[in-house]
Amino acid sequence: MTSTIFDFVGDNSGEWQVTSMTAYKGNPIESVSHLTKVPLGDLSQSEKGIWSFKGIISNLRYTEKEEKDKLTSIQEDLGRKNATLAAFIPIRKSETWWNLAQDERRKIMESKSKHTQSGMKYLPAIARKLFHSRDIGEAFDFLTWFEYAPADAEAFEELLDTLRKTEEWTYVNREIDIRLKKV
Ligand code: HEM
Repeated sequence: MTSTIFDFVGDNSGEWQVTSMTAYKGNPIESVSHLTKVPLGDLSQSEKGIWSFKGIISNLRYTEKEEKDKLTSIQEDLGRKNATLAAFIPIRKSETWWNLAQDERRKIMESKSKHTQSGMKYLPAIARKLFHSRDIGEAFDFLTWFEYAPADAEAFEELLDTLRKTEEWTYVNREIDIRLKKV
């Protein structure tokens, strides 16, 4: 069975080497040298590392059919051989965001901030996965994960830069930007 629950474990060793860790917004988390993405979500105490964050692959909330079809037709899976770089970016949004109605949130994300529209231009170079954490009482609302080849690193920075300037991002109150290199 494919796992839908993952733990991201920060420790002194692991699958990915941490190349940088920046508290882009809000409080930082403890520095670690490595990170491992572990399926199943039932880590024993000794496997929890220096820190670990749990996230669940869930259904789409805002994506409309046309967008979904387009994404599905061009996006690539995680685990590509040449995608030796990754970014792990845990994000929390404000209570103001969560108090908005679904249609208001969609309007901010897409009509105003063009999140999917902008992101789409970077597919299939950037492979991505969104993990939800808010409903399981974690410190972050989302754990975002991206994998790309070194040749696409600059494009990834450009996309992040674009998204961080949007109205949607004014609701982000905690964001840790962790960059990784495959060990
Ligand atoms: C959500 C597309 C890059 C952070 C979404 C959703 C889509 C999407 C379609 C909505 C999912 C839903 O319907 O529930 C893309 C594409 C990208 C991209 C195509 C291109 C690589 C990024 C980047 C970040 C990011 C670079 C920054 C860390 C998020 C977050 C959510 C999200 C936090 C959840 C927002 C919420 O539910 O409030 N993305 N995205 N995305 N994306 Fe992206």
